[in-house]
Amino acid sequence: MSYWQRHKIFETNSIVLTVGILVTVAIGGLVEIAPLFWLGSTIEKVQGMRPYTPLELAGRNIYIREGCYLCHSQMVRSLRDEVERYGHYSLAAESMYDHPFQWGSKRTGPDLARVGGKYSDAWHVEHMKKPRSVVPESIMPGYPFLATTPLKYGDIVDHLKTKRMIGVPYTDEMIQNAKLDLEAQVDPDGDGAEALAERYPKAQIRQFDGDPSFVSELDALIAYLQMLGTLVDFTKFDAAGPNLR
Ligand code: HEC
Repeated sequence: MSYWQRHKIFETNSIVLTVGILVTVAIGGLVEIAPLFWLGSTIEKVQGMRPYTPLELAGRNIYIREGCYLCHSQMVRSLRDEVERYGHYSLAAESMYDHPFQWGSKRTGPDLARVGGKYSDAWHVEHMKKPRSVVPESIMPGYPFLATTPLKYGDIVDHLKTKRMIGVPYTDEMIQNAKLDLEAQVDPDGDGAEALAERYPKAQIRQFDGDPSFVSELDALIAYLQMLGTLVDFTKFDAAGPNLR
């Protein structure tokens, strides 16, 4: 059988052609995708990543509830203009505990992946209540009710448990103490502050919304915003990976 006759089998028989295409595409797919499951460098291991504190997690839930992701992304792309504006490009490891991830696909407002530490708590309080009081040209809506709404955290233990089911490494100790830890994060002089800082390195512990009388939704949201992008120490991070040094 000549080459052309063999080729004719494919050209004149649609089923054989379809199977042939599938086999060819599958080889390409396997070669490209399969190694990612075994390569150690698919998600670089970086120092500093930890699960969210209960208060940060509660803040993150509010971020999702209010749809902040509809206007804000949380992923600095590895393009020069982005890196100069926002800081080091985002690493895969930085969202490995995010379920669901908040990368976003719309930037009506700026990227928030590295907003932690950029402003004071007081700035955030004013900005969330009335964005135009600090950024006159802002088109962001205000969320004044967050400051006056007590945070509901009766179910925070269940939130941590659920995250553990889907792979976030919360320990038994973290889950048992979730409620205490949440309260401890807004009470820097309280008994629980030390234990919280030990369980969650780099946890910021203070009165986020400036009102010590109750834990508000704004406390949680600001705790979350002030943590974003601060866990990995980029003065020590080497993109070439620890194994290649
Ligand atoms: C309708 C779109 C929109 C929504 C929804 C929105 N924002 Fe914004 N946001 C903006 C715009 C535009 C700016 C830039 C102007 C400003 O600073 O107010 C901004 C700025 C910010 C900044 C300052 C960022 C920086 O680097 O200067 C933070 C923090 C922020 N938003 C948080 C939030 C949070 C939290 C939510 C949800 C509760 C939210 N935003 C919802 C549009 C939005």
